[in-house]
Amino acid sequence: MTFTMPTHNEKAKYVQDQFNRIANGYDRCNDLVSLGMHRSWKHQAIKALNIKPTGNYLDVCCGTGDLTFIIAKSLTESGCVTGLDFSSKMLDIASSRSADFFAKHKHVGSIAFINGDALNLPFADNTFDGAIISFGLRNLTDFNQGINEISRVLKPQARLVNLDLGHPKPGLFTHVYNFYFNNIVPLIGETFQNERTAYTYLPKSLEQYPDAQGISTILTNANLTNVEYRNLACGTVALHWGTVA
Ligand SMILES: C[S@@+](CC[C@H](N)C(=O)[O-])C[C@H]1O[C@@H](n2cnc3c(N)ncnc32)[C@H](O)[C@@H]1O
Repeated sequence: MTFTMPTHNEKAKYVQDQFNRIANGYDRCNDLVSLGMHRSWKHQAIKALNIKPTGNYLDVCCGTGDLTFIIAKSLTESGCVTGLDFSSKMLDIASSRSADFFAKHKHVGSIAFINGDALNLPFADNTFDGAIISFGLRNLTDFNQGINEISRVLKPQARLVNLDLGHPKPGLFTHVYNFYFNNIVPLIGETFQNERTAYTYLPKSLEQYPDAQGISTILTNANLTNVEYRNLACGTVALHWGTVA
């Protein structure tokens, strides 16, 4: 099968269509592809957010809401979290998980799921006490604009956290990883979701995504201070955070 990456102008619609297509079964495939490790990465990302229990938080590109729910659990009833995504099907799954979540968890923060564009957030400047974007930035048409836009809606001293794929250092492990990522992952997508294209796009999207140092520069250029990062899973994932000046 030949695979062609979308052009810059095609990317947003391509990504939106893709997540609408794979929404059902996305969570299961995420577990399979990451061998369950995405759960631990997400908890580490939440720690980096330094949540204030009564705060107002934003989960950009929330998908089916994994991070939104973890944030809500860290909040008291006066805290709130908004999950934003532009895939209505991913948001449908997130909303359907809400009833179960609130049945199981009492005295937690409130949740709102909103359909919107990460590159044009429907919020005023200085709205949130912190924001997270998890496996979302790589999918945006403009990485700088994405981080600038999130930083715009954050209050001074708020944290911005970005969790996404990384570029492991070349070596024996990279050969094994690249084989897994480029060959096994599309096979998993095809077998379990009948969707080879989306799981071929996944490794290809990393080729256009900066390395950890490049992401740090994007955060710094967006006027974030104390920018730091940690490599996870042998550098296959990178966790960045910074503070609004
Ligand atoms: C790989 S999923 C990540 C979902 C979730 N954050 C997680 O970590 O499981 C990427 C999500 O980004 C969303 N997305 C991509 N570009 C977007 C944009 N411009 N505006 C809003 N959402 C976007 C997609 O619809 C998709 O739900």
